[in-house]
Amino acid sequence: MSERKSLALTCLLLMLTPLAAIASPPIIEGERFHPEPGQHAMVVTSHTLASRVGRDILRDGGNAVDAAVAIGFALAVVQPRSGNIGGGGFMVISDEKSDQVTSIDYRETAPAGAFETMFQDDEGNVIEEASRFSANASGVPGTVSGMAMALERYGSMSLDRVMAPAIRLAHDGFAIPQRFADGLNGSRERLEKQEGTRRLFYKADGSNWRAGEVFRQPELAATLTRIAQNGPREFYEGETADHLIETLQAHGGIMTRADLKDYRAIERAPVHGTYRDYDIYAMAPPSSGGVHIVQILNMLENDDLTRMGHGSAASMHLMSEAMRRAYADRSKYLGDPAFFDVPVEALTSKDYARELRAQISLEKATPSEAIGPGNITPYESNETTHYSVADDSGLAVANTYTLNFSYGSGIAVDKAGFLLNNEMDDFSAKPGVPNAFGLIGGEANAVEPGKRMLSSMTPTIVKRDGRNFLITGSPGGSRIITTTLGVISNVIDHGMNIQSAVSAPRFHDQWLPDEIRIEDGFSPDTVRLLESMGHNVTQQSAMGASQSILINDDGFQGGADPRRETSSALGL
Ligand code: DON
Repeated sequence: MSERKSLALTCLLLMLTPLAAIASPPIIEGERFHPEPGQHAMVVTSHTLASRVGRDILRDGGNAVDAAVAIGFALAVVQPRSGNIGGGGFMVISDEKSDQVTSIDYRETAPAGAFETMFQDDEGNVIEEASRFSANASGVPGTVSGMAMALERYGSMSLDRVMAPAIRLAHDGFAIPQRFADGLNGSRERLEKQEGTRRLFYKADGSNWRAGEVFRQPELAATLTRIAQNGPREFYEGETADHLIETLQAHGGIMTRADLKDYRAIERAPVHGTYRDYDIYAMAPPSSGGVHIVQILNMLENDDLTRMGHGSAASMHLMSEAMRRAYADRSKYLGDPAFFDVPVEALTSKDYARELRAQISLEKATPSEAIGPGNITPYESNETTHYSVADDSGLAVANTYTLNFSYGSGIAVDKAGFLLNNEMDDFSAKPGVPNAFGLIGGEANAVEPGKRMLSSMTPTIVKRDGRNFLITGSPGGSRIITTTLGVISNVIDHGMNIQSAVSAPRFHDQWLPDEIRIEDGFSPDTVRLLESMGHNVTQQSAMGASQSILINDDGFQGGADPRRETSSALGL
């Protein structure tokens, strides 16, 4: 079944069936929807086995950060299309007790040998293949450094302990779900071109994967064991580093051992904003997610979205007008703050939002060509994965990490058993030329040695009266920001429970192309009304996969996104 049809069917089921009675997905037993009241801790991930790993860590006395790190390593084993140690991401951590919200930036960096025109030919044309599927498509991976930093600063268990479940899954193997089989079978043509990848991820007899077959990864198990025993520097300076550089250099890559050795995750203050009675904490640059989610919410705050109604032409029009203005600013002002002075305060200020809101007519769409980045006075086959964890001590974690595309560059590290990212495509290969997600950029996001490429990943924690309230985020490339925005608005403006909030049909406007992209599930009447206001509306495949948690007086509730059939919310 296509992803869209399966979404439509699942949404229909959700509307017709009490949640607790929903039939389990076909492959792994029914641990998918657990919105039971009274639970005091919750794990929601895109894979049942990873959710179990997190729940077991919590049950064994670990805190939410211990569970989040264990999940990060487990997803690298059970969901190699996006779970990774060869990529990077962002983790937002909220501690109610100390009233602190912090974040770990473990985004990849450009190697020291990178330069602005490295993905252009002699005539200055962008070579997409180079930034997506070559050895130079990979940034220096950050996941191992980021996970270790989170654990050391905010966890309570040893690295050895939290990595044990991932090592077991890699060594013993696990029964693959249909989604896993479909992913590898469907990417055969691209991935088999790489001899090492073919050997690791495909069967020796060349037959397709079938759900239920057992997938083992002994080389990855050995790599994870070395990291668990020797610590994260093993990845950056030990045997794993040797394997990584040997593989990339054999493919003509520029990354060196010094690049790996120099890599450091960074702890950063998240972007903070307010929306109605809530505090929003989301990822700061080099992600654009936090800035733009706060910017869009600021633009929406003075309108009555509740009265307009979810999925009405009025609310979709207003939201898409706000979205496209934020994405226009993204193209000019967002990049790695170590290289470019990102005007975070100005972009997230209520005054600037009022200015932008004043340009929006409630009757008529503004053509995107009439919109550009504001004047700030300075002072598809894609896969990423988001998961959320919250415990009863007041710790909550929102984590999004990725290889960029499904299976990243498609190049696996020989003798170490893991895939490398193709995050270099998130840089602007040339000003004005869109990347794989149709996003354009300029100087702020040009390739530079050691620089972090701009991201849209938006792990977010919403607090109310000092308490963790909503833990959310999503994959989806450029659609991540609007997917996360939708979940926040569904909960705050439309009073949805968390399962409805993540299941509800989504829409997205990123300024260019000039269109509102919608999922299946909106009424044709709404679409006609939007078109009559001047919007181009295109229905495309499902967007995002938001694994979210809501905490209120009823306890901890998990919303597992039905757009991934392995999504799983597990409570304690
Ligand atoms: O960092 C980013 O914004 C992208 N590399 C994320 C890619 C992604 O979400 C692919 N997924 N669905």
